[in-house]
Amino acid sequence: MKPKCVVALALPDDIIERLATRYEVAAWNGSDAMSQQRLSDALAGAEGLLCALSTPVSATIIDQATELKVISTISVGVDHIAMPAATRRGIPVGHTPGVLVDSTADLAVALMLASTRRIAEADQWVRESQWNQGWQSDLLLGTDISQATVGLVGLGPIGEAVARRLRGFGCKLVGWNRTPRVIEDVEPMALDQVFEQADVVSLHTALTEETRHIASRGRLALMRTGATLINTGRGLLVDEHALIDELGSGRLRAGLDVFREEPLPPHHPFLAMRNVVLLPHVGSATLSTRSAMLQRALENLNAGMSDLPLAWCANPEVYHREP
Ligand code: GLV
Repeated sequence: MKPKCVVALALPDDIIERLATRYEVAAWNGSDAMSQQRLSDALAGAEGLLCALSTPVSATIIDQATELKVISTISVGVDHIAMPAATRRGIPVGHTPGVLVDSTADLAVALMLASTRRIAEADQWVRESQWNQGWQSDLLLGTDISQATVGLVGLGPIGEAVARRLRGFGCKLVGWNRTPRVIEDVEPMALDQVFEQADVVSLHTALTEETRHIASRGRLALMRTGATLINTGRGLLVDEHALIDELGSGRLRAGLDVFREEPLPPHHPFLAMRNVVLLPHVGSATLSTRSAMLQRALENLNAGMSDLPLAWCANPEVYHREP
């Protein structure tokens, strides 16, 4: 009998067919996220789980999945998975670091330009047939990245890749990292100072208990009037209610790829605001990056199903425990 694995997100048929040559596959193909109850039911007797960000894997689900040997997520972030519960059970959690650094850094820079040069707003304006005069000297004026101070919160691989790109724009770079890191041309600063001094603050930390609401109401209030917040990390890095207040008053601008609740609920206050650029969590969404992520996730799944160490493991301590 083939071992069972659950695929908790819709994937192309050829991938499912490939998996089915090795495993009994319980694949979700709904257009919405798999519910917790369905996931829990599907995991009965399963040794492997392939999942992504839209499927939270709670401690209860992990504890109930008594045969589970590996969780493989098609993402670098693992904040949707109850990591302590997985580690306690000795279940390795595979993820996909490295391959999405460049795409995500590109998107952060794209959001910076879209926000500071009001690109989404201008596009909308043209589509609404408002362009009924020729060139106008004061139309949709923005600010220059080349003259800005850009503050990077988190100087891991993505923060560093953003810095590398921004050097070409000639802006001043300042940055903060939990464990101090020296990055060429990035002036290290205390966290509050980054928020205080930057014209653009861009978030690049993983979401943990420590970084939840790192862009707190207090820190957003420290930002300069007219400054821009960019978030390509996780929605919960930001106190969203406080950001809504700052955007609503017109004091700040923002470019956001991630939200406290995804998909963004209908009637969310952001939807009515012109000073925020909204993207549907597409930081890694290029053909080559998504295929590299999937490749890594499948390798992790296959390794875990075969009791081999995962090449990209988010909790490698599972391999160093006393039996
Ligand atoms: C995307 O957000 C990821 O964690 O891969």
